[in-house]
Amino acid sequence: MSTDIRDDTRAGFESLFGREPEGLWSAPGRVNLIGEHTDYNEGFVLPFAIDRRTVVAVGLRDDRTLRVASTIADEVVEIALDDLEPSVLTGWPAYPLGVAWALGEFGADLSAVPGLDLFIDSDVPLGAGLSSSAAIESAVALALDDVWRLGLDRRTLARVGQRAENVAVGAPTGIMDQSASLLGQVDHAVFLDCRSLESDLVPLGLGEAGLAILVIDTGVTHSHATGGYGERRAACERGAAALGVASLRDVSIADLDRARGLLDDVTFRRVRHVVTENQRVLDTVAVLRAEGAAGIGELLDASHRSMRDDFEISVPELDLAVESAVQAGALGARMTGGGFGGAAIALVRLGDLSRVQVAIDNAFGEHAFGQPDTFVVTASQGAERN
Ligand code: GLA
Repeated sequence: MSTDIRDDTRAGFESLFGREPEGLWSAPGRVNLIGEHTDYNEGFVLPFAIDRRTVVAVGLRDDRTLRVASTIADEVVEIALDDLEPSVLTGWPAYPLGVAWALGEFGADLSAVPGLDLFIDSDVPLGAGLSSSAAIESAVALALDDVWRLGLDRRTLARVGQRAENVAVGAPTGIMDQSASLLGQVDHAVFLDCRSLESDLVPLGLGEAGLAILVIDTGVTHSHATGGYGERRAACERGAAALGVASLRDVSIADLDRARGLLDDVTFRRVRHVVTENQRVLDTVAVLRAEGAAGIGELLDASHRSMRDDFEISVPELDLAVESAVQAGALGARMTGGGFGGAAIALVRLGDLSRVQVAIDNAFGEHAFGQPDTFVVTASQGAERN
């Protein structure tokens, strides 16, 4: 993280609230290497924390008021702690204030804590599928846990962020993004079992292998509080119910033949994506450990095809980003995140980076799509006090 954003956050806090903050906390966005729409099916995911962060400056107050401000909007939103409930939260403040509310759902005694002033700044692009929302939630969750001395562990803080997003924001998302933001480590991916919530860090070794992950932000914006995301989740639940299992985690590749006979075509393809994607996560972890990142390209490609054809959450811009990256020499590429817009990632040899970037730009130009924003991300430290 550049010191600038921390300095800016501190300065923003001081100019708005006229005093020094208690401290600064930050949390990263994430890229999901592989394992898409598997988290709410109690499956496996393999995201990593990126070098784009949200920073929050927090100051204690001597009353019971919460005030939040950010560089996202020119307003200070104020609420009494005793009035904090999801139904009164709207817009961007629903993320930080939703976290304050959700801490109460996980055991914090909100009747005994002091009010706070919060100022938030971020360099995680909004709406790009890089979890700008989880970055806010995780930074605020860690900060409030510290200043309110709650002593919650990071796994619980991830669930707090997810609860805020599900209930206060209204997006029916899983646990992956907050887990990546809170548990990520430099040069590692977070291998998370979304059933047990057990996690393991898997070394990526990209730099030593002469490789990089290139993000291609298509600029096509999406929202998971509306539309396709919830519909896909419902299809998975329908499929699990028809197959007589608690979640699609309990369906294996060997079960797919039987599933084909029991499900309608669309539900079957939704199920097949999740079941095969879980296996691809396990295979990716095995390949990373045995031979390193150079060997995972085909798994990334297969994941993208599955999302494009079976889960049907890609858009033409994402398909073009993936195809043009691979044609220009990327070892593999896939859309990342919830879909319907946002970003793709490509695994690229360092020496091929500019050729791949130019090829993607040219392809977007030929299709008269808006120019994408392409940049390299590195696996970075999860949420921390700064
Ligand atoms: C979004 C959600 C995650 C996950 C992904 C798809 O990022 O927030 O919980 O479901 O989509 O893998």
